[in-house]
Amino acid sequence: MGGYGGAIGIGFELAREAIARGAAAVSLIDIADCSKAVLALRDEAADGVSAVFRAKIASFKADVSNFDEISKAIADCEAAQGPLDIIIANAGIGPCGMFLEEAGVAHWEKVMRINFMGVVCTLKAALPGMVSRNKGRVIVTNSSGGFMGAAGISAYCGSKFAVRGFLDSLRLELIHTDVCVHMACPGFVNTTMIRQAQKEAVARYTWRGVERGQYVIGSPDTGGNMLIGSSLAASSARYYPASLEFFLAPLFVLLHTIIRRAVEASTRKVLTAAELQLPLSSAKSDAMGSKDE
Ligand SMILES: NC(=O)c1ccc[n+]([C@@H]2O[C@H](COP(=O)([O-])OP(=O)(O)OC[C@H]3O[C@@H](n4cnc5c(N)ncnc54)[C@H](O)[C@@H]3O)[C@@H](O)[C@H]2O)c1
Repeated sequence: MGGYGGAIGIGFELAREAIARGAAAVSLIDIADCSKAVLALRDEAADGVSAVFRAKIASFKADVSNFDEISKAIADCEAAQGPLDIIIANAGIGPCGMFLEEAGVAHWEKVMRINFMGVVCTLKAALPGMVSRNKGRVIVTNSSGGFMGAAGISAYCGSKFAVRGFLDSLRLELIHTDVCVHMACPGFVNTTMIRQAQKEAVARYTWRGVERGQYVIGSPDTGGNMLIGSSLAASSARYYPASLEFFLAPLFVLLHTIIRRAVEASTRKVLTAAELQLPLSSAKSDAMGSKDE
């Protein structure tokens, strides 16, 4: 398994939860130094697992928005640990800034480069191997900000909407393979570092969604957090009752699911694996629609 943006935060928790669920090998790839994270994971793994397993936790340095760097990190990771069967594109940044207050467009370019192009570069590097083996899972940490905008984070929401459009399309292009795409959408919080309990809940909820074959994996508290997160809800309550979110969020997800399934069904009928330029054709077509929620 390769996790990108795993030095701290949700990425680290996803790696921790993967180990708890029995992952045989985990690699963290991050622009930051991951040595502390690796030691922490090894210590935890050592509690219940053999010493051989301990050697299977590794880290590699790369900027996800740089295709050459991420390609090399993935090649090094596969050379050390064998072919990837799960890739988690999690790295991201979430700086705040009002559109009219920021001078120039550098802020938007940077957020798009890391949050959107980071996912594109990571998957461009990792997917060919998975598709040629016709096996694998892609997990992308997107956000409820990929479903609804909020004042002060237009760059972030723009990048997360872009990720959703990209993944919805990529999923259709992989419709005839056994490579599954999952999009985790935790709710907003106002800080870059979220509370430990929330991170653990997000990681557990994400892995549970992956195991159930869900494409869109919402927040642990989907009722309120799928569209607007807890910390923003406090201030947004001035504009509409928070309870509205509770009813609207599931409805929104349901509508999105219905529309997406209709598009998937027609893609499956209209486009063959050859037209999608896939190296293999397989029986995924049936599994995809039925597993998905
Ligand atoms: N924190 C939240 O409230 C929240 C909510 C919804 C979604 N998310 C998403 O979850 C993901 C992780 O967020 P987090 O809260 O754990 O953030 P975090 O800041 O705690 O961790 C982000 C990690 O990504 C790494 N990173 C940043 N830029 C990178 C780059 N160019 N190349 C490689 N690694 C890079 C950082 O070094 C860090 O380890 C992000 O994609 C974020 O958008 C976060």
